Amino acid sequence: MKMWSGRFRQPLDADFEQWQRSFEFDRRLLRHEVAASRAYAKSLKNAGVLSSDELITILQGLEQIADKAASSTDFLEDDEAEDVHHFVEKQLVALVGDTGYKLHSGRSRNEQIATDLRLYVRAAIDQMRSDLAAWLSALLDRAEQAGNSAMPAYTHLQRAEPVLISHWLLAYVQMFLRDGGRLADCRSRLNLSPLGSGAVAGATLPLDRRTVAEELGFDAPTANSIDATSDRDFVLEFLSALSVLAVHLSRWAEEMILFSSQEFGFVRLPEAYSTGSSAMPQKMNPDLLELTRGKTARVIGGATALIVTMKGLSLAYNKDLQETQQPLFDATGTVLSLLPLASGWMKAVEFNYERMQEAAQSGFMNAWAAATYLVRRGVPFRLAHEQIGKAVQTCIERKRELADLTLEELRQVNPIIDQDFYSCLDLQSVLEIHDVPGGTAPARVRQALAEARRKVEHMREEAHAHA
Ligand code: ARG
Repeated sequence: MKMWSGRFRQPLDADFEQWQRSFEFDRRLLRHEVAASRAYAKSLKNAGVLSSDELITILQGLEQIADKAASSTDFLEDDEAEDVHHFVEKQLVALVGDTGYKLHSGRSRNEQIATDLRLYVRAAIDQMRSDLAAWLSALLDRAEQAGNSAMPAYTHLQRAEPVLISHWLLAYVQMFLRDGGRLADCRSRLNLSPLGSGAVAGATLPLDRRTVAEELGFDAPTANSIDATSDRDFVLEFLSALSVLAVHLSRWAEEMILFSSQEFGFVRLPEAYSTGSSAMPQKMNPDLLELTRGKTARVIGGATALIVTMKGLSLAYNKDLQETQQPLFDATGTVLSLLPLASGWMKAVEFNYERMQEAAQSGFMNAWAAATYLVRRGVPFRLAHEQIGKAVQTCIERKRELADLTLEELRQVNPIIDQDFYSCLDLQSVLEIHDVPGGTAPARVRQALAEARRKVEHMREEAHAHA
């Protein structure tokens, strides 16, 4: 039986009927629909709408539905159910008879879908933060393993200054820690229960909304029924957070692609995560990285579709809101599939420490340190910059590095230069002078690593406590 056929004299156009259904995609909300229905049934009992026996019957029916859905995919094949709410009602009535129809007393699908989606996003955030913690641990392990090895850091994709490899990897750690924070933030704002909001004006039965909220692990009931039934801010926030997260993964992928090219040769692609070419026998391609970069577009596309859907909607519920679901499911699935693969890749990749270290010691990346030597002896920085710049030019012409210049040659640059100038040019000293919190001096990096470990552990514990 349809949920609304009473006032209609004509059947629906068959094509329209199929076209407007959402069951094909919203059936993935079934477990949340069942959980919300259980909580709602209990509140109906407390409001005197269901007898104790009827409540038990309904709860048992709902449990059977959840079990069947978990054990058989065929169960969810239904080309008549309009959506997941209709499906559960149909199945419940098939199992327990007309008592099943009582579950919809005072309830609207508008508040149901708002509730199911909040539960879905909340569960997705918990899963995502747990996966993020694993990914962050993989990055931290690699940072730790790199020890004191160095590499060039780039600005404008030109060699700029040497840094510890661990410092470079910790940059990604910071990005993904922020993603975890954004998701936690979104979770804390969404964790309110719309149940009891009815279709738009609030329930018509004396429901104890607070108890329903608690039953579902929500912090409180939502404050306004019009807002609660039409609000999808939590989906917007979630997809925005996912877009930023995906952009971080994409930047990581892009850099790894570059670094794995023969031109850089900093990383060796793990065979288990690469593919070959059907034409060129010698090839190994970074497909995991390229697809990560490519799939980021889908996530951003989902966030874009969603915000455009929302911008024209008058209050409260409009059927357009049904169109917010697929972008949500697609973006969630996409990011959830990426994180464990990225972790696997990161664990398997080999760094060519030798080549990175070599690159860190050439190309005049000690020039700033050389200028700092002069600054510490009272030379105004702009003049020191100019003088060392001249020395670099001389070296370029003679195909040498700064450390190859004789003391005499150096004194032509500035007569205050002494023998100790050479020691400030070596890689270790150049790293050491960046001795500020957040800088690449090895002691600072060790501190940063320990601090990041604590934060990741906290994220992991929080995600697991929720799950
Ligand atoms: N399938 C619908 C959706 O996703 C459920 C809510 C239907 N509400 C209504 N008034 N037709 O939005």
